[in-house]
Amino acid sequence: MEFSQEVRKATDPIYKKISKVMPEIEWLVHAPYIHKINKLKKEKNAVILAHNYQTPEIYHGVADFSADSLALAVEASKTSAKIIVMAGVHFMAETAKLMNPNKKVLLPDMKAGCSLSSSITGKDVRLLKKKYPGVPVVSYVNTSADVKAETDVCCTSANAVKIVKSLGTKKVIFLPDDYLAKYVASQTDVEIISWKGICIVHDQFNENEIINIRKNNPGIKIIAHPECPPEVIKASDFAGSTSGMINYVKNNQPKKVMMVTECSMSDNIQVENPNVEFIKPCNLCPHMKKITLPKILECLENETGEIVMDKETINKARLSVEKMVAIGR
Ligand code: 13P
Ligand code: SF4
Repeated sequence: MEFSQEVRKATDPIYKKISKVMPEIEWLVHAPYIHKINKLKKEKNAVILAHNYQTPEIYHGVADFSADSLALAVEASKTSAKIIVMAGVHFMAETAKLMNPNKKVLLPDMKAGCSLSSSITGKDVRLLKKKYPGVPVVSYVNTSADVKAETDVCCTSANAVKIVKSLGTKKVIFLPDDYLAKYVASQTDVEIISWKGICIVHDQFNENEIINIRKNNPGIKIIAHPECPPEVIKASDFAGSTSGMINYVKNNQPKKVMMVTECSMSDNIQVENPNVEFIKPCNLCPHMKKITLPKILECLENETGEIVMDKETINKARLSVEKMVAIGR
């Protein structure tokens, strides 16, 4: 694809914004795709929802709305567009479909999964419910629709503690993220029955890394996602969802910060926080990184990667997400 004068004119304002995090040579490759995708979006009345872990050319170039998983679910329920393209992973696209079943929801790469989501099935949840009769099930939104269909109420990292407390029970089955379950247990008096799922990205961080970064960067603020191991969260200054972390940086404007999470987050928000220095020992999510501009273009052009679910699953699973949305952040 060619970097024509038309492309330059249309995309220059975007490049001005992100030039600090993207060399021009890379931009020359991305810009023609960005221009074509943005034109096609209008023609087809489509909207692109992007998770905060998407790369800067997607986050700043083509996304109509970028956010954490909770806000993406809410936005999906509100959009009037005909087509929703989810620049994120499979469970996010499924959640968008649950929230807006009459819309066409497309995922640019069907293999964009999640280690948490693939760690548990609907059948596993049915077995757990048999083992612990009457104990409510709280499922992380990082699960398949089959798991959500067996769930009382969903949660995300932005509201997990609030959701568990809202049930008012002594015991809760909380799945599938074992670390997030431990985090919730540390913030409540509720007995948590957890599952041994982990996020392959956040599990790679360790306490020594955090201690060393702090030693070598006096005054640094270290902020972590609650999917990190408990000792990493303990060694950090703040824990919160991806949007919670972004807001922490925006509101506190630390001189130096390390975001203990997926790599693209720092690049994406560096753009809006030019005075903050980001220290970036981070890890890439191989699933999130499956989404690229050429794949978004192909999926929008040919309307491929459609999320299809049976009505019964949609109706059952939607209830658990709607309950979560009603409780809020
Ligand atoms: P958030 O809900 O915080 O955006 O996190 C989603 C996710 O997949 C983190 O790994
Ligand atoms: Fe799943 Fe972890 Fe990737 Fe988030 S970062 S999508 S939890 S594997």
